[in-house]
Amino acid sequence: MIKNDIIILGIESSCDDTSAAILKNEAILSNEIAGQKVHEAYGGVVPELASRAHQQNILPVVDTAIKNAKINISDIDAIAFTRGPGLLGSLIVGTSFAKSLALGLNIPMMEVNHMHGHVLAHFIDDEGKDKPRFPFICLTVSGGHTQIVLVNDYLDMEVVGTTKDDAAGEAFDKSAKLLGLPYPGGPLIDKHAKLGNPKAFQFTAPNMPDFDYSFSGLKTNVLQFLQRNTKNDKDFVQNNIDDICASLQATIVEILFDKLIQATRHFNINEVAIAGGVSANSGIRKRLQQEGEKRGWKTHIPKFEYCTDNAAMIAITGRYHYLNQNFAQQDISPSARLKI
Ligand code: KG4
Ligand code: ZN
Repeated sequence: MIKNDIIILGIESSCDDTSAAILKNEAILSNEIAGQKVHEAYGGVVPELASRAHQQNILPVVDTAIKNAKINISDIDAIAFTRGPGLLGSLIVGTSFAKSLALGLNIPMMEVNHMHGHVLAHFIDDEGKDKPRFPFICLTVSGGHTQIVLVNDYLDMEVVGTTKDDAAGEAFDKSAKLLGLPYPGGPLIDKHAKLGNPKAFQFTAPNMPDFDYSFSGLKTNVLQFLQRNTKNDKDFVQNNIDDICASLQATIVEILFDKLIQATRHFNINEVAIAGGVSANSGIRKRLQQEGEKRGWKTHIPKFEYCTDNAAMIAITGRYHYLNQNFAQQDISPSARLKI
């Protein structure tokens, strides 16, 4: 028998954020995130250092989530954890912690696919915001993934387009690195882009079949562009950073929306969402709004705190597994390449 009020602890540790959240039905009571500054010096996430930091952070983060939700640990009905995809060492920390706690509290646990989490973040209660209706299309763009997902139901989704090499987040971060910006460079490109002219420079978009993406060519394109322009002007980047970022961002947005629009036409769907860390990007948010108005789409943009990795999205996904009584067993292990 399912109780009326269900309280779920969500745990996320797939990359470099350790996060814990408390969900009561579809409302978030707390969502704590401990980032890991240690990677900044290396220009990217160092897996071994990420696992160590998760191990240090997980107990205080879970403890704070419970305190801030103003509940007792005994109020938790079930634990949802990210099983994958992600960095194996990072996933082991969250999975092992969830398994031990579920065993200790004698409550069920649910394994969650991180990519389901990004999509289902749209179902967290948010005053004044409509939740998507099925079927809808979600463009999930993060540091590790770029997917066009056809979402038929909470736990029934299909990837209809994906990147064949780099993710959109990598296109932002790797270009930022070439521009001398610190990691993660995505938010910094966004910041500079707001001040620049998106038509100042030209970057080439790839030619990919169906609804698939490719971003590795863009990185090479940026590298060659910088080599060409800094040859005779060593201050070129410094003097043009806003325009370079605006032009680069406009190209990435164009690449993303070209395929997204094709997919909505093909599947005849006019309910469109964006998700994932890169969906925090102001250019992507604005373009979704514009396309929505132009094409009569009903659009869904997640709250900033539910775009980048967080445990709230894991908890809400866990809720649908819980309602389906789809529980994980103690012999479960993480899966770095878990598919949707
Ligand atoms: O979803 P997420 O937190 O982690 C993964 O699962 O990968 O996404 C992180 C990515 C990074 O590549 C970061 O640069 C990018 O999201 N990002 C942004 C912005 N905010 C975060 N990229 C562009 N513009 C932003 N405002
Ligand atoms: Zn993510």
